[in-house]
Amino acid sequence: MGVPRGAPTGAYGNITTSTNGRCGMWDEARLRFGGDWNPEQWPERVWAEDVALMRRARVNLVTVGVFAWSRLEPAPGRYDFGWLDRVLDLLADNGVGAALATPTASPPPWFSLAHPGALPVTADGVRLHHGSRDTYCAAAPAYRAAARRIAGVLADRYAHHPAVALWHVHNEYGTVCHCEHAAVAFRAWLAGRHGSLDALNDAWTTSFWSQHYSDWAQISTPRATQYLANPGQLLDFRRFWSDTLLAAYAEQRDLLRAANPAVPVTTNYVLGDWVPVDHARWAAEVDLVAIDHYPSAVDGAAEEQTALAADLARGWARHGARARAAADPTADASAHRARADGDGRRPVPGDAADGGAWLLMESAPNLIYTAGRMHTKEPGRMARHSLAHVARGSRGAMYFQWRAPVGGAERFHSALVPHAGPDSRVFRETVELGAILDRIAETDGARVEASVAIGWDAASGWALQHPGLPSQRLHHHGEVAAAHRALWRAGFGCDVVLPGDPVDRYALLVLPALYLASDAAAAWARAYVAGGGHLVVTWLSGVADEHARVRAGGYPGAFRDVLGVRVEEFHPLADGDEVPLAGGGTGRIWAESVGLAGAEVVRAYAAGVLAGQPAVTRHRHGAGTAWYVSTRPDDETYRRLLTDAALAAGAAPTCPAAPAGVEAVRRRGAAASWLFLLNHTDRAHRVPAAGVELLTGALVDTAVELPAGGVAVVREAPAAR
Ligand code: GAL
Repeated sequence: MGVPRGAPTGAYGNITTSTNGRCGMWDEARLRFGGDWNPEQWPERVWAEDVALMRRARVNLVTVGVFAWSRLEPAPGRYDFGWLDRVLDLLADNGVGAALATPTASPPPWFSLAHPGALPVTADGVRLHHGSRDTYCAAAPAYRAAARRIAGVLADRYAHHPAVALWHVHNEYGTVCHCEHAAVAFRAWLAGRHGSLDALNDAWTTSFWSQHYSDWAQISTPRATQYLANPGQLLDFRRFWSDTLLAAYAEQRDLLRAANPAVPVTTNYVLGDWVPVDHARWAAEVDLVAIDHYPSAVDGAAEEQTALAADLARGWARHGARARAAADPTADASAHRARADGDGRRPVPGDAADGGAWLLMESAPNLIYTAGRMHTKEPGRMARHSLAHVARGSRGAMYFQWRAPVGGAERFHSALVPHAGPDSRVFRETVELGAILDRIAETDGARVEASVAIGWDAASGWALQHPGLPSQRLHHHGEVAAAHRALWRAGFGCDVVLPGDPVDRYALLVLPALYLASDAAAAWARAYVAGGGHLVVTWLSGVADEHARVRAGGYPGAFRDVLGVRVEEFHPLADGDEVPLAGGGTGRIWAESVGLAGAEVVRAYAAGVLAGQPAVTRHRHGAGTAWYVSTRPDDETYRRLLTDAALAAGAAPTCPAAPAGVEAVRRRGAAASWLFLLNHTDRAHRVPAAGVELLTGALVDTAVELPAGGVAVVREAPAAR
């Protein structure tokens, strides 16, 4: 008990390393494999068995202490680190790295009792009580102080522990609050963003419904109100809350980094439309983007969701690395190792061209959590899901969780060591996967090939959740997913980009439902096309500005000129309604009366009030081409449409001969390329390839035999690339 401040390195059992032993793991060509390990939930005799099993499975990284606050600080200012000392020593002795967590996602009962004002308040004004996790207000000074304190003592004690390979701050930031602390902070944030009340009144269009503010004190968070809330207020609250959570993260990160700049710091992103976190913006603040990914579909859509999550993570990481480099000209996004020599800080190296590393921090070993039940993953599916992430650049494959607990709220969530113990299918598959990851370690850090880019924007996602829109079926993320699915099925490698990111290298850029577009975003798209790029913009894009105010003069406002169209009216469709398209296929969810202003018609609506009017158009602009898609085509029509656009742009599928259901991803390194092939079908397939198959070591002359559900990773012979 008690905290030895600045404990000397080497004070941990028999470990005498003078530098941090495991954080160097990020420079090695190896894949990280493991998951959340919660030894505090088990008697110590289980720990030795756990670590022996980890060794058997070749686990090399485990998240530790993520919800252990009440065990680490059983009473205010009274610490118990003995157990964690022993846990970390055990890991170090066994060559397993720790992603050491700060436990701030779950304050102990004593904290909530002592600080009732730090408990969160819902939009309805209900104050929540202790009893689960994430029950705190991130704007409450008492919470922030307590979080800093526990992070600080952990930093002092463990920053040089040889097991510590990564700091894992908090868990899945996302909890929202509407208490008075939040309101005060919101007002200060708004003053910073808008500068004056006049500017805020203008941005929020407060002339509507008598909402004009004459004093900052009149503004609250968007609490439950009588009827439709103000869209500008809703949008700014999301942005504000993302920044508030980011500040809470950053103050912990700074303490951890100051204690030992060589250990990278991250926090795990939770993905979902409800999350008030701008993941791309946060990416500049982490040394490694970490995502938790739990597909929600049981059928093939789970694989499509997996591919999209991985492409998003890679896009965020690339965006973040670029933003860091722009903010600090001495940093070179593509050469983190060089930078480490200068200031001692070591962001995790990203790919050689772009920088920006990412890791699948959590996934479910054997379950898919789907509506109303848990679906058991079929044999081999765990490996395919993990390898789909690794193929798309994840620096490893991590799971929630190592050993299934026997009690607690999540007693039936999945684990690498399930309730049945290691004599189980899931643990046998874990051991197999550990071996596979070792065999393909040489792919770690290689660049993921992509000739197409898809735009993504957190704020557009938030704005399309507002009430009062022309349809309740509008989702930015859903539209990004639909475009990505079409390209995934067509076999094109896809990067995710943010408005403003460099896009010249892509043959095709797709902007699905980019509802909010600033003038800068419009200029970015225009310059891409003018310079020879091929652009596809879909319905809902460019309709509003960055304050969610509609751009007058005809839709799709910001992109009208580059697309050569002018839309006068929307025709949102009813649930289940379809509108036929000339040439086959249907449109769903939405249709528009598209007027031509320079564009040509590619597809017309074939029936209904819009019969004969343009549904899909194409426009020459400068040296490039811009397509507009004014409805959501059915999946097959969308696949064909984007295939046509991509081929016309000069893009090629990764492995044109790969049959439907076989996912192909290519990685490129300085001296080699690798083709990942994941057979998601229940039939064997033969896929053309040449080189060496790394899982078996077999030479591949002309084709790989992929068993049903099987995987292959081919180091390609130069001629095949
Ligand atoms: C994650 C979370 C974990 C655990 C897991 C269950 O989102 O970070 O702590 O709750 O879900 O699937």
